[in-house]
Amino acid sequence: MGVVEGLLALALVLNVVVVSNGGKSSLFIRKTKKTVDMPLGSDVFSVPRGYNAPQQVHITQGDLVGRGMIVSWVTMDEPGSSAVRYWRGKNGKKKTAEGKMVTYRFFNYSSGFIHHATIRNLEYNTKYYYEVGLGNTTRQFWFVTPPEIGPDVPYTFGLIGDLGQSFDSNITLSHYELSPKKGETVLFVGDLSYADNYPNHDNVRWDTWGRFTERSVAYQPWIWTAGNHEIDFAPEIGETEPFKPFSHRYHVPYEASQSTSPFWYSIKRASAHIIVLSSYSAYGKYTPQYTWLEQELPKVNRSETPWLIVLMHSPWYNSYNYHYMEGETMRVMYEAWFVKYKVDVVFAGHVHAYERSERVSNIAYNIINGHCIPVKDQSAPVYITIGDGGNLEGLATNMTQPQPAYSAFREASFGHAIFDIRNRTHAHYSWNRNQDGAAVEADYIWFFNRFWYPVDDSTVYVSH
Ligand SMILES: *[C@@H]1O[C@H](CO)[C@@H](O)[C@H](O)[C@H]1NC(C)=O
Ligand SMILES: *[C@@H]1O[C@H](CO)[C@@H](O)[C@H](O)[C@H]1NC(C)=O
Ligand SMILES: *[C@@H]1O[C@H](CO)[C@@H](O)[C@H](O)[C@H]1NC(C)=O
Ligand SMILES: *[C@@H]1O[C@H](CO)[C@@H](O)[C@H](O)[C@H]1NC(C)=O
Ligand SMILES: *[C@@H]1O[C@H](CO)[C@@H](O)[C@H](O)[C@H]1NC(C)=O
Ligand SMILES: *[C@@H]1O[C@H](CO)[C@@H](O)[C@H](O)[C@H]1NC(C)=O
Repeated sequence: MGVVEGLLALALVLNVVVVSNGGKSSLFIRKTKKTVDMPLGSDVFSVPRGYNAPQQVHITQGDLVGRGMIVSWVTMDEPGSSAVRYWRGKNGKKKTAEGKMVTYRFFNYSSGFIHHATIRNLEYNTKYYYEVGLGNTTRQFWFVTPPEIGPDVPYTFGLIGDLGQSFDSNITLSHYELSPKKGETVLFVGDLSYADNYPNHDNVRWDTWGRFTERSVAYQPWIWTAGNHEIDFAPEIGETEPFKPFSHRYHVPYEASQSTSPFWYSIKRASAHIIVLSSYSAYGKYTPQYTWLEQELPKVNRSETPWLIVLMHSPWYNSYNYHYMEGETMRVMYEAWFVKYKVDVVFAGHVHAYERSERVSNIAYNIINGHCIPVKDQSAPVYITIGDGGNLEGLATNMTQPQPAYSAFREASFGHAIFDIRNRTHAHYSWNRNQDGAAVEADYIWFFNRFWYPVDDSTVYVSH
C-alpha cells in the first residue's frame, strides 16, 4: 500500500461506525491515557504579577438584550477597588462602573476578594477595552458587544460542558480558541471546576479554574448553567448552603428576565433567545422555576429572536450507561412546552461524551395508553449532549445497546461544538473532537429553524 492508501485505510478503521436501528455509534479509536488534572504549578494557573493584581477575570452578559456586561475578578492581597474602567475603541472616553465585593468561607478555605461590576448601556457591535485593579496593579482586557437583536443577525456560539482542569480540558479550550468558526460567546452547560472532587472540596481548585479559563472568558462572555459539581453540598464538613462557591464567584443577570434565582434565567443575544434551566433546583409544578418557565416561554418573540435555545445540565435524551434517565423527571414536566413552543435545540452536559438526537418527543404517554416510546416529531428540539469538555473523571464510554432510535450520533471523545447562526432559517452546527485538528468537524448538520423553516432537517444529516 502506498502512503495515501495507507492513510485512507487507517481513516476507515478509525471512523468505523456501528449502525443499528438507531443512528450511528462511532467507534473512533481515542487515546486511552488517563485523564488527569494539570498540577498546581502549571502555566495555565500562573498568578498575574504585581501587588494585588486582579486574577480570574471573567465576563458574562449583564442584562436581557446584550448591552450590559458583568465583569468579575478576584484580588488576593487586600480588597482593592471594585470598580471597572471601560472605554470604546482605542481612545474612547473613559467611564467607570462601580461594583461590589464579596467573600465566602468553605470549611477551612477563605476566598479572595471577589468583585462583580456591571457595565450598562453599551453600544451594540462595538469593541470595548476595560481595566480592573484600579489603585493597585491594573490589568486591561477587551470584548466586543453583540450586534443589535434582530431576526437575521448572524452569530456564533461555542458549546462547552463539564470542562474541569485536566490536560484534556486545556486541549478542548485551545481547540475552541483556534476554531476557524470563531465563537463569539460560550454557552456553558455546567460543571466548571470539579473542585468538589478534591478533599474538603478544596476551593483552591476554583481559583485555579478561574485562572485557567481567563484567557477566553475575560474576552468573551460565557453564559453559565449550574451543574451538579456546582452544588458543593457537604454537610459532613458543615457546608450546607448549596451552590455556595459558584454563586459567589459567577454572577448572571437573572433579574433582567424576572427570575428570582440565578440558576434559571434567560437572555437575548443577536438572533437567539437563550433559556438556562437548573437540573438541581426544584422544577415540579408550582415551584419558582416551573412558574418562571411557564411565563417565559410565551414571551419568546421569534420575529425578534428566531432561534430558541435551551441550556441545562442533565440531558433528557441520553443513551449512555452513565446518568441514564437522570433527566427524566424534568423531561416529564417540561417537554410538552418545548414541543409547543418549538424549541430549536437543547444543549446539556453531565455525560462525559458526545451525543446528538433526532427531533423526537415523548409526550403522548399518560400512564395507561402505552405510548411510552419517543417518536419523531418535527416540532421537537434536537437534544445535544456536550459534556465532553475533558474533566478528570474521564470519558463515559459505556453505551446502551442497541442504540435507541432517538439517538442520531454518539461518540465517546472529548471536544466542543459550535452553533453558527446564519440567518432566521439556517444555522450550521458542528462538533470537534480533540484528537482531530481544531478545524475538523467530526459531526455536523444544518439546523432549520423550527419557527421560520420547520421542514425535516434530519434529511440533511451528514455525520461521519
Ligand atoms: C484544611 O484542612 C485540610 C485537612 O485537615 C488540610 O490539609 C489543609 O491544609 C487545610 N487548609 C487550610 C487552608 O487550612
Ligand atoms: C490599592 O487600591 C485601593 C483602592 O484603590 C487603595 O485604597 C489602596 O490604598 C491601594 N493599596 C496600595 C498598597 O496602594
Ligand atoms: C495549555 O494550552 C496552552 C495553549 O495551547 C499551552 O500554551 C499550555 O502550555 C498548555 N498547558 C498545559 C499545562 O497543558
Ligand atoms: C415581536 O418582535 C417584532 C420585531 O421586533 C415586533 O414588531 C413585534 O411587535 C413583537 N411582538 C410582540 C408581541 O411583542
Ligand atoms: C456497561 O453498563 C452496563 C449497565 O450498567 C453494565 O451491565 C456493563 O457491565 C457495563 N459494561 C462495561 C464494559 O463496563
Ligand atoms: C440563510 O442562510 C443559508 C445558509 O447560508 C442560505 O442558504 C440561505 O439562502 C439564507 N437565506 C436567506 C433568506 O438569505
